[in-house]
Amino acid sequence: MFDVEKIREEFPVLKRKINNKKLIYFDNAASTQKPKAVIEKIKEIYENCYANIHRGIHTLSQELSDEYENARKIVANFVNSNFEEIIFTRNTTESINLIAYSYALKNLNKNDEIIISVMEHHSNILPWQFVSKKVGCKLTYVSLNKDYKINVEEFKEKINRNTKVVSITHISNVLGSINDIEEIIKISHENEAIVIIDAAQSAPHTKIDVKKLDADFLVFSSHKMLGPTGIGILYGKKDILEEMEPFLFGGDMIKDVDFYSAIWNDLPWKFEAGTPNIVDAIAFAEAVKFLENIGMENIEKYLNELTKYFLDRFSELRKFKLVGSRNYKNRAPIFSFIHDYLKSHEIAKLLDLEGIAVRSGYHCAHPLMKYLNLFESGGTVRASLYLYNTKEEISYFFDILKKIENNY
Ligand SMILES: Cc1ncc(COP(=O)(O)O)c(C=O)c1O
Repeated sequence: MFDVEKIREEFPVLKRKINNKKLIYFDNAASTQKPKAVIEKIKEIYENCYANIHRGIHTLSQELSDEYENARKIVANFVNSNFEEIIFTRNTTESINLIAYSYALKNLNKNDEIIISVMEHHSNILPWQFVSKKVGCKLTYVSLNKDYKINVEEFKEKINRNTKVVSITHISNVLGSINDIEEIIKISHENEAIVIIDAAQSAPHTKIDVKKLDADFLVFSSHKMLGPTGIGILYGKKDILEEMEPFLFGGDMIKDVDFYSAIWNDLPWKFEAGTPNIVDAIAFAEAVKFLENIGMENIEKYLNELTKYFLDRFSELRKFKLVGSRNYKNRAPIFSFIHDYLKSHEIAKLLDLEGIAVRSGYHCAHPLMKYLNLFESGGTVRASLYLYNTKEEISYFFDILKKIENNY
């Protein structure tokens, strides 16, 4: 049973008042709030059992090393991957940069092509612009279909035997669209391209099974799914990771170092140079356990109910326009919208006065805003929901939007 009131009890911040109003946190696509289990785990480690890991023979170091590796096991299990295929990074951005540097720069040449889509977050655009400029290869964009999803027909036309890398988002952080990644992965592999899935917005929303998906890499961030900031995940297929050179060099990623050479450590440690973000990795595993206790299927079902309710209520508005699909079955509860007269930041400010936290502007997606002709007008307001949000909050949100409509 999905008991939202019980879930809300676990998030102390939800009791806060903002501008003397009850906080309504609708900025989850940027970062989610943290449950007590995560906050307490961080405190517990620093109070009782902190030490550096993988280095000490003493008990504290041994204990925390085991906890850190156990956290990796929990994350691996969460996405159905093997232990050695999960690398802890800082965030989604670093995971994609790691692939760009360690895989793409080494394996691509000037005759090759990279395909991404117009809906990508900057962190899945800039590394590919860099690789494309560095090796002189082509960077190709696929546009959107009428339902605001990556246009698979156009993708089929654009992909060819020179395409070596396809890097696309599973769920758009602006539009909420859920892309047909299974089909895109299949077509990419038929053309012998490797596929990277940006799961920053999908890992919090839906069950990910990397074996079933068959993507070559899949990346996401702890902070968007109840975990701490400073921890990201890079999943990569073992045979590809084995062939790659390390991205960062230093302590812990080696087996032996000589004066002019070194032997790299095994996977996954080959890609984790220096003291890692030990405490936050372990606290992220607490977030994963929290999600698993509720059940990803239950979370997805509840978020779908919220999506349907939000879209139904949106149709009552006159001066606000939704930017994205109205089909609740094929989208996540990430809603971008604009107003006939007000700019996105003005609306966000008015909502903040009522205790409602939303994001406004370009959402780290300038190319998408330009593609949708929303750049000059200042972008969109984005309301993004997660498992602790309620229909009552949505209802209050629409009352406020109606008040704004009446005043402006
Ligand atoms: C789809 C998508 N990709 C990548 C990122 C970058 O995530 P991070 O800032 O955690 O690296 C985000 C963050 O908003 C995102 O929504």
